[in-house]
Parts: sequence; C-alpha cells; structure tokens
Amino acid sequence: MARTVLISGGNRGIGLAIARNFQKNGDRVVATFRSSPPPAEITGIKCDVTDETQVSQAVSEVESLHGPVEVLVANAGITLDKLILRMTDEEFGDVLQTNLTGTFRMARAASRAMAKHRWGRMIFLSSVVGFFGAPGQANYAASKAGLVGLARSLAWELGGRGVTVNVVAPGLISTDMTAGLAPERRDLLVGITPLGRMGTPDDVAHAVRFLASEEARFITGAVLPVSGGLAMGY
Ligand SMILES: NC(=O)c1ccc[n+]([C@@H]2O[C@H](COP(=O)([O-])OP(=O)(O)OC[C@H]3O[C@@H](n4cnc5c(N)ncnc54)[C@H](OP(=O)(O)O)[C@@H]3O)[C@@H](O)[C@H]2O)c1
Repeated sequence: MARTVLISGGNRGIGLAIARNFQKNGDRVVATFRSSPPPAEITGIKCDVTDETQVSQAVSEVESLHGPVEVLVANAGITLDKLILRMTDEEFGDVLQTNLTGTFRMARAASRAMAKHRWGRMIFLSSVVGFFGAPGQANYAASKAGLVGLARSLAWELGGRGVTVNVVAPGLISTDMTAGLAPERRDLLVGITPLGRMGTPDDVAHAVRFLASEEARFITGAVLPVSGGLAMGY
C-alpha cells in the first residue's frame, strides 16, 4: 500500500537515494531541501530543519498535498570538523542544531498525526561515528549518538500507538559529505571495513525502506548499522 513519505535533506546524497527508492516503490514522496531542489521527478519543499516554523510548515504542506506523514526519514545532516581545542561553541551548536534538534523538530511535527492514525514509521540517520568516535568530530559524534536516545525515548512514547522509531547508522558512504576526505583517511576506513569498500547511497536506502515496511512492524528502538562491518559491535 502506498504511504506518504517525508525525507529531510532529500535533494542529494543518501536522502535523494532514499526518496527515489520509496518513489520507485509507489509511495507518495516529498523531499525537503535547504539550498537547491531535488531533481524534477521528486517533489521538493524548501525547509531548513534548524527553523521550527519552516519544519511545521513543511509538514503541513505535505499533509495538504498527500495527507498525513506516515513515514518520516530524518536524514538532513552536516559536519563541521575541528579538534576540540579549536572548536567554538557555535561550531558545536550548529551541528547539534541540524543533526539532533532538527530531527527532534521533524519527529515532533510528524508524531501527532502518526499517533492519531495509530501507524507510523520514523527512521533517523545516525552514523557509526556516534559509537566509536572520530578525532575532529566531537560535535558530529555527539549529535549522532544523541539520536539513539531520542529514538529510544520516542519508541517508548509512541509504541502503544503503532509507531516504530529506529536508527540507521551508515559507515563510509560515497556522497558529497565524504568527497573531501583525505585519501589516507578514506583508505584507512575502507581497510577496517570487512566488505572492503565504501557504501553507496542505495545501500542505505534499501535498509531504510525495510525499516519503513509493514514487515518491520516488530522492530523499534533498534540501531541498524549499514557499514560493511565498519565498527561492528560498537
Ligand atoms: N556519507 C556518509 O559517509 C555518511 C555516513 C554516516 C552517516 N551519514 C549521514 O547521512 C545523512 C546524509 O548524508 P549525506 O552523505 O547524503 O550528506 P550530504 O550529501 O552532505 O547531504 C546532506 C543533506 O542534508 C541537508 N541539510 C544540511 N543541513 C540542513 C538543514 N539545516 N536543513 C535542511 N537540510 C539540511 C543538505 O541540504 P543542502 O543540499 O541544501 O545543503 C543535504 O540534502 C546525514 O545525516 C549524515 O550525517 C552520512
């Protein structure tokens, strides 16, 4: 059955692959974007997740286009890497605002209708970095680890209403976010990935769609690594 799916940051990278995957499956997909819109085949709504008004407006817009959001994929994320001695409060806060508070805002805006209709799926994009840490990524790792506590609390709050809340933790995936990695760092990470390669955005999209499916109905509060085994066991 077709569902209404909202993906934050769905104009490129992993978010766009997720949007295409759901759309191919026949779902009604809306992808939010902050700067440039997604390709023409995907419906885009402008929304900066750091702005509460834009988030609630985006969710209302989806509702008037396609009905209540049934699947929320909170994917929008940034990095702003610095060693702690050089990291300003602002640089720490900006990453938290986008990755963690932005997800909280999207989830809050979508949860009312999900609870009312007694069905919903939320999937948050974390990262294996949230569990094993990385030098220069204190802000990013803290935000991604925080998503697990957020998801598990919402799993408790909304479980009785038929809403599941899960986390996907990608490893190293080929997107703009990782394009600037120093080749030595990339090779080191691929070297500790048992499957021996970087992942693709599609690898992540398949896992997200599974968690959004009816078949995943008894899975909530889970963290699913999609990492080729990188950092397994953390
Ligand atoms: N690539 C990896 O190796 C990897 C690994 C683990 C986890 N992840 C996570 O997976 C998610 C997607 O990553 P990606 O690699 O696809 O990154 P990406 O190519 O850099 O894309 C990031 C997306 O987030 C959007 N975004 C950033 N700040 C936003 C804001 N304030 N409001 C709304 N949208 C915002 C961007 O929109 P604009 O185009 O408008 O900037 C873009 O759509 C992120 O949460 C990331 O942390 C990625």
